[in-house]
Amino acid sequence: MNFAVLASGRGSNLWAIIKAVEAGKIKADLKVVISDKKDAYALEHARQAKIPAVFIDPKDFKDRESFDKCLVERLHEFNIDFVVLAGYMRLLSSYFIRQYPDKVLNIHPSLLPAFKGTHAIKEAFDQGVKVTGPTVHFVNEEMDAGPIILQERVEVDPKDTLESLEEKIHQAEHRIYPKVIDLFVQGKLRISGGKVVIV
Ligand code: GRF
Repeated sequence: MNFAVLASGRGSNLWAIIKAVEAGKIKADLKVVISDKKDAYALEHARQAKIPAVFIDPKDFKDRESFDKCLVERLHEFNIDFVVLAGYMRLLSSYFIRQYPDKVLNIHPSLLPAFKGTHAIKEAFDQGVKVTGPTVHFVNEEMDAGPIILQERVEVDPKDTLESLEEKIHQAEHRIYPKVIDLFVQGKLRISGGKVVIV
């Protein structure tokens, strides 16, 4: 299977995925990395790994759907079977989701459905939660709301700062995301009644 990673930022999850592909822990080909941010470090990671790195400028499009149409065209050029979001900061249009039904994965840094949105780690920390951790889920048309695949618990230590908690969550992300991607590739994820069963 061929897959693409979409990323807008520093790309630490992308890097963990690249390493897992290289180590044969994800038995699929990462064909292209696409970003909506020209200077996303994720694109640099892709270049270092000799993977095509594509920047698509949102300013060139009148709306979300026309941007996504261009995105889908690029994905078709690379014969992409499924899509992995890794810190991709744009909401996907329904058009995009219809092109890849149940074939888009995302990682979010809280135990969904708690703390949706872009400041999940800080909100959980400020709330004083004792347990948090990342969630990998299928993407649907609502933000951070698709069927949950896997979560890893991260204990919040009284000595944790926001920074140390962020670090622990990112480490957990780098463990579970490659694992879930490989489960997907092996056809072990089934969605039944809106819930994911790992077979
Ligand atoms: C991660 O915390 C992920 O959960 C969220 O965005 C962040 C991306 O980090 N969706 P990175 O760019 O992979 O380092």
